[in-house]
Amino acid sequence: MVNISDCIKKLHKDGYYSSNKILTKKDLNALRKLVQINLKKNNNSYFFLADKKLNKTYINNKIFIKKFENLFDKLSTNLKLKNYKKQKIYKVLRVIAGNRSKKESYRYHFDAHLFTVLIPIFIPKNKTKNNGDLIIYPNFRKLTNILIINIIQKLLFQNRIAKFLLKNKIIFNNKEKILKLKPGNIYIFYGYRTLHGNKDIDPNQVRATLLLHFYDIFNESNLVKLNRNLRLKNEEKIIKNNKK
Ligand SMILES: [Fe+2]
Repeated sequence: MVNISDCIKKLHKDGYYSSNKILTKKDLNALRKLVQINLKKNNNSYFFLADKKLNKTYINNKIFIKKFENLFDKLSTNLKLKNYKKQKIYKVLRVIAGNRSKKESYRYHFDAHLFTVLIPIFIPKNKTKNNGDLIIYPNFRKLTNILIINIIQKLLFQNRIAKFLLKNKIIFNNKEKILKLKPGNIYIFYGYRTLHGNKDIDPNQVRATLLLHFYDIFNESNLVKLNRNLRLKNEEKIIKNNKK
């Protein structure tokens, strides 16, 4: 299991923590099967499934999800987070393949939840590039519970101009870290504080990740909820088009 104080130290110092001790072979195989079944349904194209859509899958398997509930519980206790017991893990299965690969790359953003656990399921294995490496700017912003500051920071960094400047290393080049993802490992970082995205992906290959988010900073905000639901509607449309 994960040594929590070691993990928190690394989160602050390196901006991420990775471990090969949480995911079992059985877990990885079950996740791979889940991705393959859904890829077939989506004609081998990009899809994004979240929250309730994953309820009846292996991701909601008690033994599997409990490991991460325990992990988030320990992290939250250690950091003395308020009211974390009221919150649940927000699960996302993000599978990139086909023509949308380019659009999905370098989509730098901050997450809504404090913690992000990234579990690589399928990662392209090209010799040099286009493997969709994870790009992080660790602990790039501070934690704030003022919604307007969050929105302004998001507007500043989640747009085409910022994408161009970051991608071409014109700004904040010294803060960038590239993580080559290895299935079997899990990667933890402060998704809320860390600006992140992924590098290019070969459109003929699949990059599948399971994202487990915990501790929604604006848990009570209807605006954030609305925004999340709009995103989900948009993702549903993509899936509908995949099936045509
Ligand atoms: Fe994210």
